[in-house]
Amino acid sequence: MAEHGATTGLTGVPETLLITLAARLLASRRNPDLRFADPAAEAVGAALGFDPDRFAHDKASMRGCVVRGQWFDAIVRHFLLSNPEGLVISIGSGLDTRANRIAPPPGVDWVDIDFAEVVSLRRAHVPPLVNVRSLAGDGTAVSDWIDDVPWHEGRPVMTIAEGVSMYLKPEQAFAWLDAMTAQARTRQSSMTIALDLASPLMVSQSHRHPSVSKTGAVFSWGVKHPADIAKKVPSLELTETYDIARQCGLPSYLVASAYRLLTFGRPIYSCAAFRM
Ligand SMILES: C[S@@+](CC[C@H](N)C(=O)[O-])C[C@H]1O[C@@H](n2cnc3c(N)ncnc32)[C@H](O)[C@@H]1O
Repeated sequence: MAEHGATTGLTGVPETLLITLAARLLASRRNPDLRFADPAAEAVGAALGFDPDRFAHDKASMRGCVVRGQWFDAIVRHFLLSNPEGLVISIGSGLDTRANRIAPPPGVDWVDIDFAEVVSLRRAHVPPLVNVRSLAGDGTAVSDWIDDVPWHEGRPVMTIAEGVSMYLKPEQAFAWLDAMTAQARTRQSSMTIALDLASPLMVSQSHRHPSVSKTGAVFSWGVKHPADIAKKVPSLELTETYDIARQCGLPSYLVASAYRLLTFGRPIYSCAAFRM
């Protein structure tokens, strides 16, 4: 049965932000080899009085969330190096402190979008930065928020959604990708989209997930292979994939490797970047 998020009042999908927050708070103790440091996350955890040990038993997720976060950090940093005047749109930011870790240059605008109850917590607890703002709403309902985002013609855009896609309905996910690519086309902007993607097996087993099951959330969308997205949204080209499950300790590595063998090379859980 789901336990309520006592420190935040969140339940269900929004409450899953505590899993990734716990991973960041536990990283220096549990996964020191990853050399992950995040003083802003420490400040958020302290302000909430949040005890990350609630999720500490889930060693694979605690490691996986940090490994995944480092992949997203690297891909955003790479984008900002080439596009110091670019726009970052982060869907489902939760209480992440990516912008605080990256410190985007002054020419960049960064927009974090999440549900209203989450954005209230973000505004209260995540240390503010001048060129970073939060918007409340459904990140997949692009027409609801697009006019509040400084996306002018030709401006390069990086769209990220970390730990989000699996909670979307498949039709919602594709409608969102179609809407984002349509916006980029209208503005003649280049766009990179970075997501993490669950496999159908992971989706079917989400009720057994040691951390997600504590929130009552379930996964809804899985893809057999990241390349399937580019087949359905032809303006997107798959440029990079990263098999996270093989970086989360030996048991995960063995399961992910067996899955690859049995499915002729599909990842059980991966990050993927697309560009248009
Ligand atoms: C697992 S948490 C990840 C949070 C953050 N990205 C991180 O890595 O710490 C999932 C987040 O996605 C948000 N989310 C899920 N579906 C969303 C949607 N349609 N629009 C906006 N936010 C959404 C949830 O509220 C939650 O904050």
